[in-house]
Amino acid sequence: MKDLKKITEVEDLRRVAERKVPRMFYDYVDSGSWTETTYRNNESDFDRIKLRQRVLVNMEGRSLATNMIGTPASMPVAIAPTGFTGMMWADGEIHAARAAEKFGVPFSLSTMSICSIEDIAENTNAPFWFQLYVMRDQEYVSNLIQRAKDANCSALILTADLQVLGQRHKDIKNGLSAPPRPTFANIVNLMTKPQWCMNMLGTKRHTFGNIVGHAKGVDDLSSLTAWTEEQFDPRLSWDDVARIKDMWGGKLIIKGIMEPEDAIMAARSGADALVVSNHGGRQLDGALSSIAALADIVQAVRAENSNIEVWLDSGIRSGQDVLKAISLGATGTMIGRAFLYGLGAYGEDGVRRALEIIYKECDISMAFCGHTNINQVADDILVKGTYEQLKSSQPYISPLRW
Ligand SMILES: Cc1cc2nc3c(=O)[nH]c(=O)nc-3n(C[C@H](O)[C@H](O)[C@H](O)COP(=O)(O)O)c2cc1C
Repeated sequence: MKDLKKITEVEDLRRVAERKVPRMFYDYVDSGSWTETTYRNNESDFDRIKLRQRVLVNMEGRSLATNMIGTPASMPVAIAPTGFTGMMWADGEIHAARAAEKFGVPFSLSTMSICSIEDIAENTNAPFWFQLYVMRDQEYVSNLIQRAKDANCSALILTADLQVLGQRHKDIKNGLSAPPRPTFANIVNLMTKPQWCMNMLGTKRHTFGNIVGHAKGVDDLSSLTAWTEEQFDPRLSWDDVARIKDMWGGKLIIKGIMEPEDAIMAARSGADALVVSNHGGRQLDGALSSIAALADIVQAVRAENSNIEVWLDSGIRSGQDVLKAISLGATGTMIGRAFLYGLGAYGEDGVRRALEIIYKECDISMAFCGHTNINQVADDILVKGTYEQLKSSQPYISPLRW
């Protein structure tokens, strides 16, 4: 295990990943759609929320432990499903799943992963969650659900915000593909990433493990590209949610909710959790940041008297961000880029380091706010006036200037 003591914040991991990971895969992670405004707001809105420091409170015996839809978690953080993860580091999904298992947080596997559902099941012990993209090919979708059941996945995440694809300029310009095409520019760039190349030579997993060999007619890179371009089903609706819930028969998480009306629909659908998420700013550019959308959704769900858990992702780069999301009513969070930077920098050790950093930041900040149990944190730890305005399109006015 590498000694990563001098890696002290997620930003350190991002910088190392930027150096080590081939340009097209680093860019794929570190970008949002169109102008990237929502991508940036996801992070900057967290910074606008201020915490209230309390003193002379006994801060011994603190705990961040909780559970997310019955899965015990050492802190209210799960690894979000992300595509192409095995291109950040060879066999990346296996490394991330192992780090999550050892740290005691849930791991989610994307439909668009490089390692397959079966790869994760064979290489880990803890049950993991599987994220489903609904494709036009219904036989493929029902097989995928069956494979997730056979692999003992303990929840299905239905991603609701990707019926159509947001555009990320860099992916088009870089010609993103897995594996990378052997163009002159790619070869020159790969020559500067020797560790990545060596690791990749040591694995056979170079393309989408849940698709190639499973979807009809997909056996090489060009058929795969054509298939993915036409397969995301734009007709997906709430009626399909009921059908998928029946097919799956287990715990269901709906990810990608940004409005109270949709949160109410999710609660009425019988799902176990919903994730307030704008897909990390990768879909609708110009949408609110997730943290700005959270409070109204929590209120709407409470008014429904629903037991659905409300989680949040998009923009979490520190333990303070987790603490702020919990204080505004989420009972869990998910991280995407924060773990991907760790993975690209140091593989499994890097994901572990990202989790350690977030844990420590959350724990110490909670203590400064006078709390010892994450499950009892509420919005009284926040400075009034610093979170209510997040939704407003007006320039933010600091309460100090009132
Ligand atoms: C590189 C990358 C790939 C992603 N791929 C998927 C995916 O395949 N399925 C999915 O539901 N969400 C996907 N997401 C969205 C994440 O699950 C999550 O919502 C997002 O990363 C949270 O924002 P954050 O990266 O700021 O933490 C992806 C996000 C990133 C950054």
